[in-house]
Amino acid sequence: MKFFVDTANVKAIKEIDELGLCDGVTTNPSLAAKEGKGFKQNVQEICAAVPGVPVSAEVVALDAEGMIKEAREVSSWAANVVVKVPMIPEGVKAMRVMHAEGIKTNCTLIFSAVQALLACKAGATYISPFIGRLDDLGVLGMELIEECRTIIDNYGFESEIITASVRHPLHVAQAALVGADIATIPPGAIKKLFSHPLTDRGMDAFMKDWEKAGLKIFE
Ligand code: G3P
Repeated sequence: MKFFVDTANVKAIKEIDELGLCDGVTTNPSLAAKEGKGFKQNVQEICAAVPGVPVSAEVVALDAEGMIKEAREVSSWAANVVVKVPMIPEGVKAMRVMHAEGIKTNCTLIFSAVQALLACKAGATYISPFIGRLDDLGVLGMELIEECRTIIDNYGFESEIITASVRHPLHVAQAALVGADIATIPPGAIKKLFSHPLTDRGMDAFMKDWEKAGLKIFE
């Protein structure tokens, strides 16, 4: 399963990339708004920081014509830009045109299996079901990822599933277990993936025993 970093913060992206865990980046208008810089500058800085990997940047027009115009602009900013398009009728209309023009798309704000089906049929490169926000409502978000997997496999769609709105390590483990192609994870949650109290305790004991015995690797 690929890891995308769910942030618009260049420093955080670079840190995760140094761990070898940045297979892509996803941003959204709320994340971009936190960065205190122009959207174009921000997207170009991210794309330059991780040149070989897809970077999702969202359009904000609400009509298909406006979305297509924005998509052409945003996708001209760097070779690795993927245009994020909302799951609304105008978005679906726009994605068909983008697909025909060879613009890569990430259909966002997917909360049901039928919405996922619509995005796949429109030729979305990626579909983003939001699991954390479903969990917030008391609905099991991960079941939607399983449904998306089944739909894509049933019909051989080319869209890849990005498990989005990931909040904690269990989401990441479950996404991998149900066969999501990708999980997009906030940097803080990626760091949490490493932790286990038994690892810390084990490390501590190994280091103490080693020191007590006065052992060395380079003698
Ligand atoms: O990129 C969109 C997404 O992952 C949102 O996450 O935590 O705001 O629901 P969240």
